[in-house]
Amino acid sequence: MPVLGLGVWKMAEGRETEQAVEWALEAGYRLVDTASMYRNEHSVGAAVRRSGLPREDVFVTTKLMPTHASAARELEHSLRRLGFDYVDLYLIHWPLPFVSARHWRELETLQERGLARAIGVSNFGRGRLETLMRGAARMPAVDQVQFSPFQYRRRLLDFCLERGIVFEAYSPLARGKGLEHPTIVAVAERLGRTPAQVMLRWAIQHQAVVIPKSSRQDRIRANAQVFDFELADADMRILDALDRTNGSARARG
Ligand SMILES: NC(=O)c1ccc[n+]([C@@H]2O[C@H](COP(=O)([O-])OP(=O)(O)OC[C@H]3O[C@@H](n4cnc5c(N)ncnc54)[C@H](OP(=O)(O)O)[C@@H]3O)[C@@H](O)[C@H]2O)c1
Repeated sequence: MPVLGLGVWKMAEGRETEQAVEWALEAGYRLVDTASMYRNEHSVGAAVRRSGLPREDVFVTTKLMPTHASAARELEHSLRRLGFDYVDLYLIHWPLPFVSARHWRELETLQERGLARAIGVSNFGRGRLETLMRGAARMPAVDQVQFSPFQYRRRLLDFCLERGIVFEAYSPLARGKGLEHPTIVAVAERLGRTPAQVMLRWAIQHQAVVIPKSSRQDRIRANAQVFDFELADADMRILDALDRTNGSARARG
């Protein structure tokens, strides 16, 4: 799974999403994160196909909004909109109260059928993960949760990494709101980087996969320039200290 991807939440179906995915693929991104709830899967699929890249070179995630309907039917709808035979990762979007072992078994079956190369969850805290894992034949490959210096979910991060679950950071820029924080700005200025690059680098150095969203070409490009510098331990600790969750494992976002 690539370490960097483009998130497409709140992008409108049509030109906005197609253009952003096209720019991201041009800039070297090889992961796109969508969801049935975002209502832009059609545009994601169209842009990936138009890029001319082999399907296996682009990692596409979509998500199931769990309902009482069958997960198989939901994924078939997503695949039809994407125009794909399979997705690389299929996530349960939210641990809604009625989400049960039945939903996970359905995802396991979808993986066995080859319709999802990997299966995982999103917004699951440690308790829900443990419950799910107790009855699972296959472990979740990924937990996608809100993660940034302001939501440093250290205990959940450690729990996932210890069990080989990929920890995927959504809203890694704190939805754009963290970019003007004086501490982030000071570190960025000292390193000659953008605040967004510093926030993404922080998450990557904590071994998270990051999926920043931008609809702008300049930002999509700049957000990918995060593999040619490193944050020193002292800067990591400065950013860790911005946490407002006190390391909580509780699901948020
Ligand atoms: N599983 C879940 O429940 C869940 C929930 C939320 C998000 N997600 C996923 O995670 C992705 C990212 O999270 P997010 O969209 O909430 O927030 P985000 O990536 O933390 O922040 C996106 C915001 O930051 C701005 N931005 C991006 N790059 C910038 C830069 N270099 N300089 C200044 N501003 C910049 C964007 O504006 P512009 O577009 O105008 O550049 C946008 O307003 C989503 O798109 C989605 O795929 C998943």
